[in-house]
Amino acid sequence: MRIPFIGGNWKMNLSLDTAVQFVKEIKDQLPPADKVETAIAASPLFLESMLQNNQDSPLFVTAENCFYKDEGAYTGEVSPKALSQMGIQYVIVGHSERRNYFNETNDIINKKVHAVIRNHMKPIICCDETMGRFENGDHFSWVVNQVTAALHGVDETDAEDIVIAYEPSWAIGTGHSASTEEAEEGCYLIRQTLADIYSDETADKIRILYGGSVTQENIAALMKEPDIDGVLAGKASLNPKEFVKLANYQT
Ligand code: G3P
Repeated sequence: MRIPFIGGNWKMNLSLDTAVQFVKEIKDQLPPADKVETAIAASPLFLESMLQNNQDSPLFVTAENCFYKDEGAYTGEVSPKALSQMGIQYVIVGHSERRNYFNETNDIINKKVHAVIRNHMKPIICCDETMGRFENGDHFSWVVNQVTAALHGVDETDAEDIVIAYEPSWAIGTGHSASTEEAEEGCYLIRQTLADIYSDETADKIRILYGGSVTQENIAALMKEPDIDGVLAGKASLNPKEFVKLANYQT
């Protein structure tokens, strides 16, 4: 019912040449988008060239971030309107690196969610948690609060197209993924939160991803969990062969 979503987030890695080569190389090796949606989020500097070389590919070339205003005197920011005009369909919002290194608050993230939707794109909303919170057991309320704040004022109809990624900070880039049970528990909690905000029906339609040290070794087990509809991979998405393996996790 929910189409699986296998996403890569390159962060500030690779070069224009490798980005272009990457999309060309994987084009014919990805599952069709009606079976599994695949996406690579890349630097705004690479997006136009990636799109040009991505014709007839099921891959969604995706943005890693954008600003919450459409245009104006905001030096250095990435306009959601310009992204949409380029043909971008998904934008990551609220990644833990944005929250932690660039002081993005729940309020800023909520404004960005609205900006993405207003510009006819779909946000991939990330929520995180720290090891300290995980150990104290207050990580669930933290995640519920992030999801609730990010979706403040978002209509139920728009919410159906949103993707949410549960990415515990302690699992990002550490090589220590959450266990399948821990990942499922986080994604289940998010689905319950969506049901509380909207309805069971809408919560059932929204894709929820797990992110944090996903590899070709652990993806199949993660994808068997009932509330995990996909993954957001960082390091494992940097290599085209590895990303293709993630995308074809079912085979
Ligand atoms: O957004 C993806 C992410 O932060 C996970 O990164 O390198 O642990 O797969 P990684």
